[in-house]
Amino acid sequence: MKGVILAGGLGTRLRPLTKVTNKHLLPIYNKPMIYYPLETLVQAGLKEILIVSGPEHAGHFLHLLGSGKEWGVKLSYELQDEPGGIAQALGLAEDFADNKPVVAILGDNIYEDNLSGSIKNFATEPIGAHVFLKEVINPSRFGVACVKSDRIIEIIEKPQKSPSNWVVTGCYLYDTQVFSIIKKLKPSSRGELEITDVNNYYIKAGTMKFSKLTGYWTDAGTFESLLRANQLAARKNGFLVED
Ligand code: G1P
Repeated sequence: MKGVILAGGLGTRLRPLTKVTNKHLLPIYNKPMIYYPLETLVQAGLKEILIVSGPEHAGHFLHLLGSGKEWGVKLSYELQDEPGGIAQALGLAEDFADNKPVVAILGDNIYEDNLSGSIKNFATEPIGAHVFLKEVINPSRFGVACVKSDRIIEIIEKPQKSPSNWVVTGCYLYDTQVFSIIKKLKPSSRGELEITDVNNYYIKAGTMKFSKLTGYWTDAGTFESLLRANQLAARKNGFLVED
């Protein structure tokens, strides 16, 4: 398996914090945000990891993470010229993937769960896709899963009325088909190639699997979730935020 960290986008919801730097370089307690998804992949035993970022701050990622030696992995870098969605950014990893299955993780997603078991299982039989669901109280900000008798029957991106409280978090395991699926996608109403459309393709094909997270999970793309991510990471490190 190869790993891809998707760290593009302009982080407009976090302005002015993202006016002169990239969202994924902002601090989450004592580390830059991108360390968290990187460590999730490293923990799962991935050795080759690609970072996809926009051109504005690409040099900063290189400066911060370098060759990957510090984590015992080999890092590569790819540019997404203009923000065009998560699926478009993943499409840029085709050459890097070199016909191997991929784990794609969003650069602002912070997982307490250890995902290695599911990732290693998928690697032994890399067919279809696998996503990680988390129950939340505010689902309509995310891709929401409709689950019936232990199968996902559809994922709805940012629905006004949520069919459930189970959201699709930002780590996706895909077989080698994913790049041909991305090529068939049409931009959504927000003008982006949506990762949810990729996932719905696998659902229709009957090859989507999922697991449910038990630990905390958050993204960090809004002021509220950035604050929550900091609090969770601080608490995890034994620092009591309430004090
Ligand atoms: C993206 C995905 C959404 C997913 C979320 C997880 O949303 O489109 O399906 O639930 O990441 O962080 P975005 O961050 O682009 O709003």
